[in-house]
Amino acid sequence: MAAADGLCTELPMWVTNAWYVAAWSHEVEPGRLLARTVIDEPLVLYRTAAGEIVALEDRCCHRFAPLSMGRLEGDALRCMYHGLKFAPDGSCIEIPGQKLIPHSACVRRYPAQQRGSWLWVWMGDAAAADPAAIPSTVALDDAAYRLQAGAIDYAAHYLLIDDNLLDLSHLSFAHEKTLGLDMPQWADERPAMLPLERGLRVQRWLRNHPPRGFMKKLGERVDVWNSYDFLFPGIFLQRTDFHPAGTAERCGGGAPDTAPLFHRVDEQAVTPVGERTSRYFFAAGARAADIDPDRVGRLFAVTETAFHEDKALIEAQQRLIDLDPARRMLPTSLDAGPTRFRRLVDDLLAGEGGRRIPASAVGSS
Ligand code: FES
Repeated sequence: MAAADGLCTELPMWVTNAWYVAAWSHEVEPGRLLARTVIDEPLVLYRTAAGEIVALEDRCCHRFAPLSMGRLEGDALRCMYHGLKFAPDGSCIEIPGQKLIPHSACVRRYPAQQRGSWLWVWMGDAAAADPAAIPSTVALDDAAYRLQAGAIDYAAHYLLIDDNLLDLSHLSFAHEKTLGLDMPQWADERPAMLPLERGLRVQRWLRNHPPRGFMKKLGERVDVWNSYDFLFPGIFLQRTDFHPAGTAERCGGGAPDTAPLFHRVDEQAVTPVGERTSRYFFAAGARAADIDPDRVGRLFAVTETAFHEDKALIEAQQRLIDLDPARRMLPTSLDAGPTRFRRLVDDLLAGEGGRRIPASAVGSS
C-alpha cells in the first residue's frame, strides 16, 4: 500500500532494537499493574516479590483481553476474563478446566531493566538486548542531588519533540519568560556537535549572562557551560554549569577546567507511544550543595511551565503538518542537530529493514 510519502506502509516504522523508557520506577508499585504503550505495542509492567521488573505483552493470548485488567498472584499474572495464568517469563501455567497447556499458550516477555529511576524496555530481538547499553542517569533519590520529576503526554510524533531538544535556540523565543529569560545567547551561539554511537553530544558557552533570582548570588555576570548527550530514541542528558564571567574566554571556548559555581542537571526521555502520541519523562534539579529543597521546587516549577510551552507549540505544529503533509519546511542553520539526528534514525530504521521516517508525519526540509 502506498503512503502519502510514496513509501510502503507495510515496512516497519519503528526502530525495535533499542531501549525505551516505559515509566518512572515509582510508577510501578509492588502488587500493582501498569499499562503502557511503546511503539504501538501494549505492555503491562509489574514487579516480582524480589522487586524485579516484568514487562509482558498486554494482550492475553486467549481472547486478547488486556492482562493489565488482570490480577497478580504472587509473581504470576492471571487474566481476569477467563482465568489463564502466566508466569513472569510469559508462559501460560494454568488454563481453567484444561490440563494440557499448549506451547503456543504464552505472551511475549520484553527484556526490562531498572536503571537510575527509569524503567527501560527492549522492544526488539531479546537476544540483542544489552543492559550495558542503557545510559547511566542520576537516580531521583541520589543524595548528591536534589531532583524533581514529571511526565507529559504529547499528541505529536516523538521526532518533533526530539527536534525541539536538539535545537535549543528555541529557548530564547518559546521560553522567553521562563527558561530563556534574558538569554538571547541560546539563539545567537551555535553549539559544537560531536557524533556519538546512536546520538550526538551538543556543547556551547553562553557568555556574560546576568543571573536572576536566587542565582544572583553567583555574581553580576556568569559564563554558562551547557553540554548534553542526546541518544536514540530521545534520551536527553544535560549538565549546565555556571562559572565566573571570563571562564569561557580563558578556556578558549572549550570545556571548563574548573569546578562550577552551580551545577544544574536535566534528564529527559522521549518515548514514542504511537505515530501521533508520545510520552515525555523529565527530571530537573541541581547538585544538592548548590540548592535548598524549597528552591529546587521553584526551579522545577519554571521548568515544567516551559515544557508545557513546548507541548502547546509542538502539538500545534503537528496539527499544521497534518493539514498539508506534502508541504516542505524551510531549512536554516538552526536545524543542524535535528537534521543529523533524523539521518541517524533513518539509518537505524534501514538497519532493521524499516521504512524511512515518514515525512507525512514529521515534515521534511
Ligand atoms: Fe484472557 Fe480469556 S482473554 S483468559
